[in-house]
Amino acid sequence: MVSFKELGLVNTREMFAKAVKGGYAIPAFNFNNMEQLQAIIQAAAELRSPVILQVSKGARNYANQTLLRYMAQGAVEYAKELGWENPQIVLHLDHGDSFELCKSCVDFGFSSVMIDASSLPYEDNIALTKKVVDYAHKYDVTVEAELGVLAGVEEEVASEVSHYTKPEEVVDFATRTGCDSLAISIGTSHGAYKFKPEQCTRDPKTGRLVPPPLAFDVLKGVEEQLPGFPIVLHGSSSVPQEYVDMINKYGGKLPDAVGIPEEQLRLAAKSAVCKINIDSDSRLAMTAAVRKDLYENPGHFDPRQYLKPARDEMKKMYIHKIVEVLGSDGKA
Ligand code: G3H
Ligand code: 13P
Ligand code: ZN
Repeated sequence: MVSFKELGLVNTREMFAKAVKGGYAIPAFNFNNMEQLQAIIQAAAELRSPVILQVSKGARNYANQTLLRYMAQGAVEYAKELGWENPQIVLHLDHGDSFELCKSCVDFGFSSVMIDASSLPYEDNIALTKKVVDYAHKYDVTVEAELGVLAGVEEEVASEVSHYTKPEEVVDFATRTGCDSLAISIGTSHGAYKFKPEQCTRDPKTGRLVPPPLAFDVLKGVEEQLPGFPIVLHGSSSVPQEYVDMINKYGGKLPDAVGIPEEQLRLAAKSAVCKINIDSDSRLAMTAAVRKDLYENPGHFDPRQYLKPARDEMKKMYIHKIVEVLGSDGKA
């Protein structure tokens, strides 16, 4: 058993309380590799922004959970080296799908876990979430739960339609599970294709898809039921069109990729939404920069040659999110 406290990590409790009060949101960035982690930590350290490092199922399969955990431990030391005296870094399990997995992360030094039982019937979601909460809280590890189902592919659960969170269920759910934060469904979804073209209109000038607005009425309903309770938004990449264009220009093919407009995320960050999950935008930034570098420099074969611009591009994107969208700069 390793406590996250020994690793210099923090849980989300205080961070979320401050964010809800202060009207900003904490960035939750997924990482799968060293360059992403370096970019995240450099951005957070320079801006003194609290940050959540997320480890997904795909990341565990790709990079190995043990290695990622040690990388996060190293990230705390790296942040200090960059001059951040008291780094506010959370190591979080993204979309945990079983008690056993959540327990293994708690035992191994994660400071926060998500149990995503949102695809189960309501009572089963409560039972599994409560089991994880009861275990995690013994070690002061905070727990994110989910109510409602996001459209698209939520881990292995394919859902054609999104089932918005029902505000009338949230008090019962939060009270009976004891969860520390709640991910809700208000129209966001994972990946770079958040909406089908038929769900959007098209800007006649640019020809780009204009997505439908998020269900802010559902968010408001949740906030009224659970005033001050930390709310989480998954699937919150904005799919920057400059990256989509770059990828397409340099040999890629991402037709009609579309995300959540940043002005809507800005609005959400000012509400009880205190954690905003971003993964796809980092994938797009990295891919765009790598494609550009290799196209312009056919002789490059040292990965450092094309991964450096990729890392710089991701850092630029993280800085933009922290300062211009979430407002978490200067909060740690
Ligand atoms: O929740 C979805 C995240 O973007 C992670 O996805 O399992 O492909 O790494 P992944
Ligand atoms: P995006 O695919 O919109 O980046 O969402 C990531 C996420 O929700 C991770 O849990
Ligand atoms: Zn997610």
